[in-house]
Amino acid sequence: MNTNTPASPGGAQATAPLSDATQAALQPAGQAPNSPGATHIRSFVHRRGHITQGQRDALEHLLDKWSIPYADRRLDLAAAFGREAPTVLEIGFGMGETTQQIALARPGDNFLGVEVFNAGVGSLLRRIEESNLQNLRIVQHDAVEVVRDMIAPDTLAGVHVYFPDPWPKKRHHKRRLIQPPFVALLASRIKPGGYIHCATDWQEYAVQMLEVLSAEPLLRNTVEGYAPRPDYRPQTKFETRGLRLGHGVWDLIFQRIA
Ligand SMILES: C[S@@+](CC[C@H](N)C(=O)[O-])C[C@H]1O[C@@H](n2cnc3c(N)ncnc32)[C@H](O)[C@@H]1O
Repeated sequence: MNTNTPASPGGAQATAPLSDATQAALQPAGQAPNSPGATHIRSFVHRRGHITQGQRDALEHLLDKWSIPYADRRLDLAAAFGREAPTVLEIGFGMGETTQQIALARPGDNFLGVEVFNAGVGSLLRRIEESNLQNLRIVQHDAVEVVRDMIAPDTLAGVHVYFPDPWPKKRHHKRRLIQPPFVALLASRIKPGGYIHCATDWQEYAVQMLEVLSAEPLLRNTVEGYAPRPDYRPQTKFETRGLRLGHGVWDLIFQRIA
């Protein structure tokens, strides 16, 4: 994986209403929130992966058209999409096949896909162009920073986190996305009544997700325990791989409360 993301232009921003503990977990002690040097444990590693010529061409020619550069300031969603519509954030869309299908099936919603992986971004850019999708934009950057810096509180209609990297080794669990500080941040960005939908094929991560989401005061489970897969979520690439390996699949759908 390789990010090639634009550098933060910096600048002071209003921060979301997060508890001191959450702020502390997202920012190293002693650094001002959103300071340009702020770091946190990444949920991904930089790796050079295979990229096709088509994906390379898409990155070269279509990135400006369909992507929004990361910036340390709030994103005007209506301006970014050219319309006011409920906006769903997808974190880690991989090659983007699921994102494309959902955006096609739900033309009334806007979709903001966040991914760091060059081949995946190239792949989704091609899909947007092929399907002439007007309701999908990409930010190629660490989702933690995108959510923290670009998304205003109480704005998202939904969040999709499908098959995030499970980081199975215990010493790597700290890299998992679905942990209390990031879930608190995400919940603060969802509108009351909006939803967060996670799915995983890793049972022990599913248990962690259920615990973390259930413990977040701004969220309530829409069902008892795990949810059936809703019709709008097609089977993803990673899910297919997991099923082939004999894994189960767990969906979790929580609603943001007022
Ligand atoms: C296991 S893949 C799942 C891809 C896709 N959702 C699927 O189900 O096929 C997880 C993806 O999340 C991306 N990712 C991990 N951490 C991320 C982060 N902090 N910001 C953006 N993308 C991230 C990875 O690059 C990877 O493509």
